[in-house]
Amino acid sequence: MRACDTPLLRKFWYCVARSGDVQDKPFGTRLLGEAVALWRDGQGLVRAVQDRCPHRTAKLSLGQVNNGNLVCPYHGWTFNGDGHCIRVPQVVQDRPTPFGVNAYRCTERYGYVWVALEEPLFDIPEIAELATQGWRQVHEFHEVWRTSALRIIENAFDPAHISFVHRNTFGTDDPRIEPFTLDERPDGFVFRNDFRVTNAEHMKSALAMDEDETTRATRNRFHLPFSRVGHIHYPNGLVHILCSFLTPIDDVHTRFTQFVVRNDREEDVPAEVVVAYDREVTDEDRAVLESTDPEVPLDRSEGVELHMAADRAGLTMRRMLRDLSVAQATPAG
Ligand code: FES
Ligand SMILES: [Fe+2]
Repeated sequence: MRACDTPLLRKFWYCVARSGDVQDKPFGTRLLGEAVALWRDGQGLVRAVQDRCPHRTAKLSLGQVNNGNLVCPYHGWTFNGDGHCIRVPQVVQDRPTPFGVNAYRCTERYGYVWVALEEPLFDIPEIAELATQGWRQVHEFHEVWRTSALRIIENAFDPAHISFVHRNTFGTDDPRIEPFTLDERPDGFVFRNDFRVTNAEHMKSALAMDEDETTRATRNRFHLPFSRVGHIHYPNGLVHILCSFLTPIDDVHTRFTQFVVRNDREEDVPAEVVVAYDREVTDEDRAVLESTDPEVPLDRSEGVELHMAADRAGLTMRRMLRDLSVAQATPAG
């Protein structure tokens, strides 16, 4: 699957920036091969338009914000939050111009800016704990990886890589797969499995646990197309919820955004210790994922990859994406 050539992928919300990236200046980002300019309008709401001026193609994100509108850096043409050109400074206008740039749906949630290029099929994944007393959010990563979003999200549901990729952190040396269940939902699936993990000496403080081994009881929720909200329950009562959102920048680059939600306090485990644990684990994944072919075949009959039973979650993602692409391309009725 090439992300930029898959029309289905335009119909989802993606995390494109941190809220703090968009303050009093415009901010440029990329989504599915399209350059997108973000800025805050007069009400403080983030707006998103095509980052390409219709006059001489300059990047609008290099311009300025004036009265909540976006001003092109080249000749000052000015665009409102709906993308309409409302001012050409060189021309005395007595009526609105009939032209503009594409505007996209844009919202903020969990401290990030989200954009959908077309009417989204599903809402942004719900994280109920964030609205509940006793839980905290720890921001971890917002960075660009050189591989495709599907490779990264498949890996988040791949029990077979742990004793190899993570042998220096939480993986045990037993490569056998514990039983798992996978329950499909219209917008993804729930993957559950419980497994033994190593509690490495240098990582014990992040889990507030002294044992050399422990157990993870996981409920890993996949949301189409490339998101995961994964609950990890430890025997000491700690719940560590991994919230990972993958944004295809183009066919071979992906923005990896991750934060965690936990039921402990900063006094128990400082945020920097939480981040350091996941940094080490995530860098292990990244090293191998960036060595893979970014192009992932959606159809098993293409025969360019071999599979095993432990690949079921990734294969289910591929089938769901393929079926939804066909359904969306087929006119209703
Ligand atoms: S290129 Fe934007 S106003 Fe000329
Ligand atoms: Fe991993």
